[in-house]
Amino acid sequence: MKTAKVHPLWLRLTHWINALAVLVMVASGWRIYNASPIFAFHFPDSITLGGWLAGALLWHFAAMWVLAANGVVYLALNFASGRFPRRFLPLHARDVLRDLGAAVRGRLAHDDPWHYNAVQKLAYVFAVLDLVVLVLSGLVVWKSVQFPLLRELFGGYDSARVVHFLAMAALVGFTALHVAMAALVPKTLLLMTRGR
Ligand code: HEM
Repeated sequence: MKTAKVHPLWLRLTHWINALAVLVMVASGWRIYNASPIFAFHFPDSITLGGWLAGALLWHFAAMWVLAANGVVYLALNFASGRFPRRFLPLHARDVLRDLGAAVRGRLAHDDPWHYNAVQKLAYVFAVLDLVVLVLSGLVVWKSVQFPLLRELFGGYDSARVVHFLAMAALVGFTALHVAMAALVPKTLLLMTRGR
């Protein structure tokens, strides 16, 4: 029986810390958005965090350090250990299309926990890049005067806010699908918790 570690401890820790930080960031972010919406809707207060604008800002700023520091540790260890190319490369469009087709027909194999299928690779790389965009656009929304170059890269303060919102929406979409997939294949949840 294969009992070797599929996911190292540092990966499991950074994954679950990230999940918690994302939850706090999104729920408090919705409350902050409600104080000055950029679209013609607001989020129900009952699914937001912080109670009021100032409370939500405190949650958002507290979790932001956790999210960013945890993300730096995840990326540094992933690249330093050579795990990133091993797990996520190569990533070809034709493999993604093949695995998407298999997934739609309910025939996507999950029997080898050592390798992510191409759809997983794409989704995880997307989630990591999306989080980078979220942090950078968040820096502009937070301190736009102190980060003029970054602000101009995002097309100015107002458009950085729109980018921040859209990146949040993409992350929420990813997380909903991701949690549903993990529930469908509970073995992967066990691996992400116990490692083997
Ligand atoms: C309660 C919520 C979550 C659950 C139950 C969950 C579950 C899992 C599981 C089971 C895996 C391993 C998949 C496999 O081995 O096939 C995984 C990997 C991953 N999850 Fe989550 N996840 C959650 C939240 C999140 C969030 C919010 C993010 C945000 C970006 C995220 C990003 C990732 C990434 C990037 C990987 C791949 C990590 C790597 O191998 O480097 N997860 N997740």
